Amino acid sequence: MTANAQFPAPFSFGTPAEVVFGMGTVRAAGQRVAALGVRRALFLVDQGVLAGGLTTPVEDSLRAAGVEWETFDGVTGEPTDRSVQAALDRADSLRPDGIVAMGGGSALDTAKAVALVGANGGTVLEYLNRERTAERAGVPVVAIPTTSGTGAEVTPISVIIDVDRRFKGGISGPQLMPRLAVCDPELTLGLPPSVTANSGIDALTHCLECYANTAFHPYAKLLALEGVRVIGRHLRRAVVHGGDPAARWGMMWGANLGGLCIARAGTGDVHAFAGPVSGMFGVPHGRANAILLPHVMAFSLPGAIEPYADVAAALGEPIAGLSRVAAAERAVDAVRRLIADAGGPLRLADCGVQEGDLAALARDGFGRGNRAINPRVATEEDVAAIYRAAL
Ligand SMILES: [Fe+2]
Repeated sequence: MTANAQFPAPFSFGTPAEVVFGMGTVRAAGQRVAALGVRRALFLVDQGVLAGGLTTPVEDSLRAAGVEWETFDGVTGEPTDRSVQAALDRADSLRPDGIVAMGGGSALDTAKAVALVGANGGTVLEYLNRERTAERAGVPVVAIPTTSGTGAEVTPISVIIDVDRRFKGGISGPQLMPRLAVCDPELTLGLPPSVTANSGIDALTHCLECYANTAFHPYAKLLALEGVRVIGRHLRRAVVHGGDPAARWGMMWGANLGGLCIARAGTGDVHAFAGPVSGMFGVPHGRANAILLPHVMAFSLPGAIEPYADVAAALGEPIAGLSRVAAAERAVDAVRRLIADAGGPLRLADCGVQEGDLAALARDGFGRGNRAINPRVATEEDVAAIYRAAL
């Protein structure tokens, strides 16, 4: 018997060089940027962050630390090949030695792509289409999330929409990992309920899919189940009482755990099928996940009895005395209620999807890589049935 037959596959675990987490940490971001050797930064922010005045403490700290910067606020909605190119054009003229990205996953993913393409040449589409690979690391990226959702501050992944093909795909690789993540839950205190819900359900989906999928990764599974527990405890309160620091702290922590776990052990069918919904119909990622999650869980359940039973317990369901199958079923119910309480559920039809679109969605969804590690592998017919159930 070989070692490989006796033991599961080797695994690795990576994070940014430093993750700084806590209330008020953003006020010292500039000093940490300077400590990385950055003297001239591209400050890449999404417009909502700029309008909300959230950039002021970062700007103050950059100034105090002697770091020059130029602000690029062209990030709107999810990153596209065009919005990334616009940011690259700005970087070309500035020639920064670091990128400070502040915003939701879109700003963070844009920054990662700009650093990568800036160092390795070509266009972002060439990386998205696997026509070019990155050899060199780019300038350091400092990621400051202002939502609790994607966990993009700790993932070596950048998700980009190819506008012409209406295709949402991803680039991944160690060169995309931010150098530093500054996670300050204070930044999320003013988020509206809909953004809190969509981003929070995205984070829940990361943890839940990662925990239940068939990838072997002890670190990731540990973080994923804790993420489910933390998000289950805080999501409702963060949506309803957005000014509660404890709820916001919990959600940012849960999102961070979600990012760490999916960076190594991936997701599953919810993310596989949400990609086409966002790519073709512009539905925000978290909302697409919220729509699909209960349907994918119901489909996956026969292959996920043990992990779903654990999820039920993590979500506080009273599973004592239940069979593992009954406990797993409670997880699906619990998630459905959580989504409903957070402001859903919505249906695909509410997002402009029509009966005639289902075949194209199913075709794209069936081709997605993360489908292979879902706890129950869907056939083409299954994929179509899941989209239909969500319509
Ligand atoms: Fe996600």
